[in-house]
Amino acid sequence: MLRTLGAYSDLKGKRVIVRCDLNVPLENSKITDDGRIRASLPTIKKLSDAGAIVIVISHLGRPEGTPEKKYSLEPVAARLSELLGKSVAFATDTIGTSAREKLASASGGSITLLENLRFNPGEASKDLSEREAFARQIADFGDVLVSDGFGVVHRKQASVYELAKILPSYAGELISTELGVLEKLTVAPERPYTVVLGGSKVSDKLGVIENLLPKINKLLIGGGMVFTFLAANGLRVGKSLLEEDQIEKVQGFIAKAKSLGVELLLPKDIVVADKFAANAKHETVPSSAIEQSSFGDSAIGLDIGPESAKEFAQAVLSSKTVFWNGPMGVFEFDSFANGTREVAKALSETDGFSVVGGGDSAAAVRKLGFSENAFDHISTGGGASLEFLEGKSLPGLEVLNV
Ligand code: 3PG
Ligand code: MG
Repeated sequence: MLRTLGAYSDLKGKRVIVRCDLNVPLENSKITDDGRIRASLPTIKKLSDAGAIVIVISHLGRPEGTPEKKYSLEPVAARLSELLGKSVAFATDTIGTSAREKLASASGGSITLLENLRFNPGEASKDLSEREAFARQIADFGDVLVSDGFGVVHRKQASVYELAKILPSYAGELISTELGVLEKLTVAPERPYTVVLGGSKVSDKLGVIENLLPKINKLLIGGGMVFTFLAANGLRVGKSLLEEDQIEKVQGFIAKAKSLGVELLLPKDIVVADKFAANAKHETVPSSAIEQSSFGDSAIGLDIGPESAKEFAQAVLSSKTVFWNGPMGVFEFDSFANGTREVAKALSETDGFSVVGGGDSAAAVRKLGFSENAFDHISTGGGASLEFLEGKSLPGLEVLNV
């Protein structure tokens, strides 16, 4: 059980630090998907409405302990302000002069966003004492911590873990919502229960496959990771993404799925291209004949084929519970977006409980123009939701346990 805030009204005039995950994708300082900002609004709004002095903290990208303009949260402050319809002050550092000055003049109801936590080496340091020292400096600004960055709860970092031990800390609205959904996926999910996995690397998904196999009915595999599965079945994959060192492991999964009676669906056809580019020449071939395409052994698989997309969609439509993480192909390029689009469409149409697991798949459904309301839930946590489903203990949640 997580500690949650009983009454926000008790926070009037209190300095409340809110740890959000405002790690949004940017292109030339323009936010290309503001999903995580929107998901953070309920907690921020409630605190501000209750008259708290709201201090928002977050990371963005992976700067390594020093400021880098391209990872600045400044564009996020502007968007946050637009969405709240209220001014949001921005401090150009996290614990320095700018932060101190902004906060010195902050009054009840005001919102201040501090610059990227990861501009400070203490945030993600491997050294506990460095993380603690940084956490103490942040803690000086606040009376209470509301932890609401669901997307980052799998990281043992200063603002996620150590800070929550120093200040009285509570889970926010977003974390509560996300956990409610994930619990539905783990405690007695309605069946058939289908998991769709994609994305580039099978090595990122080993734990989740291992742990989910005994719990699900169908596993659909697409994206770059599929080629390691095809290779595990003895097929040749040209120049497609392949993690040779994982083939044996994947052969183990294939055998395990069989013995558990889990239906493992691999694509029967693949869209191959001559290069990794939006304008690449491409054609569809059976997945058993990738090197017989006109590109020979330099063919690169960039999407699941249309037949597979239909088959995957059918499996999703006939399921009562569906969790999807990872695109089926290079959806950023129109020619290779069909697999991802068909799977997203099926999730949006299924009567079953449908959950899109964060990161790239969440960005994909928005980019491809689906309405968010068509899904039961779009998670803000890619890695975090996967690790939750893996049954791993998540430091940022552990620390909020009663
Ligand atoms: C994410 O995008 O996965 C979260 O914001 C966590 O970021 P990280 O993977 O860089 O720790
Ligand atoms: Mg990540």
